[in-house]
Amino acid sequence: ADALKIGMAGLGTVGASLAKILVERRDMLATTCGRPIEITAVSARTKGRDRGVDLSSAAWFDDPVALAREADIEVFVELMGGAGDPAHAAVRAALARGIHVVTANKALLAAHGVELAALAEENGCLLNYEAAVAGGIPVIKALRESLTGNTISRVYGIMNGTCNYILTKMEKEGLTFEACLKEAQRLGYAEADPAFDIEGNDTAHKLSILTTLAFGTKIAADDIYLEGIANISIDDIRAAADLGYRIKLLGVAQKTETGVEQRVHPTMVPLDSVIAQVDGVTNAVAIESDILGELLMVGPGAGGNATASAVLGDIADIAKSRPGAQTVPVLGRPAAALQPYRRAQ
Ligand code: NDP
Ligand code: HSE
Repeated sequence: ADALKIGMAGLGTVGASLAKILVERRDMLATTCGRPIEITAVSARTKGRDRGVDLSSAAWFDDPVALAREADIEVFVELMGGAGDPAHAAVRAALARGIHVVTANKALLAAHGVELAALAEENGCLLNYEAAVAGGIPVIKALRESLTGNTISRVYGIMNGTCNYILTKMEKEGLTFEACLKEAQRLGYAEADPAFDIEGNDTAHKLSILTTLAFGTKIAADDIYLEGIANISIDDIRAAADLGYRIKLLGVAQKTETGVEQRVHPTMVPLDSVIAQVDGVTNAVAIESDILGELLMVGPGAGGNATASAVLGDIADIAKSRPGAQTVPVLGRPAAALQPYRRAQ
């Protein structure tokens, strides 16, 4: 079968991990997907940087928007990050010409998700974003596909690996906040600007996407009560432990009689709860629904390979799909059917 040609913009922590996997597992993927997957175009900021993988056969583009607009590809994989351009312009350019898009960029989706979903639907292409929420945990698939027909009442959990890593290391190894953050950055967990992690914005971006999938409302990332972990001290962590609790940064979205409540803040969770035992870069997402009941998904929430695994799953879904056969709407229902967001009173 013809290879699925993909163009990648962004060859950093996630992009380089993904490229390595695609090259090293080419034969295995060709078998499982029914066709080989080939990287035919790439873009990053720094041409010629060693990415730990040979990409010399792929066309190089200095400009990711030009790649999205011109390259001979079926899928555009956006792994640059950032809510604005060039990520936004590049994703728009790809969708506008009917190219499928896979992205891990929650900041982009939180800001422009509804617009991009509508554009994808208009042009008959897929916009897949499993890696954008909770790293390798397949929570988008759970909400968008597996729980179809359920009425969801609440979604909550630990959605930022950097914060959970910091809180865990501070408690268990007695390291300072700054030292833990540095280590999270070194391991490739943190955002390019780690303020997004520690101030809670990254959790808010992810929560806003889950809210839309769970409740069918337009993405409302700016309407979230937000408190990060920057002010949490080792004394706070010890005081919580003395009382039988552990501090976790949680994102919570729930349906109330008046609307949807969304909040992100450090929370004292009982030491004997499952969430309290979720350590390090691991994330946990709980979904409460009426037919299934409570689903709790726990797994690696950040890092090159964990994230690349989810991106790869999205690419594989496209490789396996046949034209016209894929019917999963980007945001769980057609973009035009999303209801206005109403904040709970
Ligand atoms: P990195 O900062 O490691 O990599 C970003 C890549 O994008 C680099 O290759 C960089 O080029 C390239 N890039 C940045 N700006 C431009 C530009 N203007 N034009 C062309 N290329 C550009 O980020 P990550 O790999 O960590 O993250 C990528 C995306 O994945 C982000 O949206 C992030 O939020 C998301 N994500 C990350 C996770 C993680 O654990 N790291 C987990 C889940 C999602 P160069 O290398 O030359 O500087
Ligand atoms: N910076 C993010 C985190 C990456 O630490 O969770 C995964 O989305």
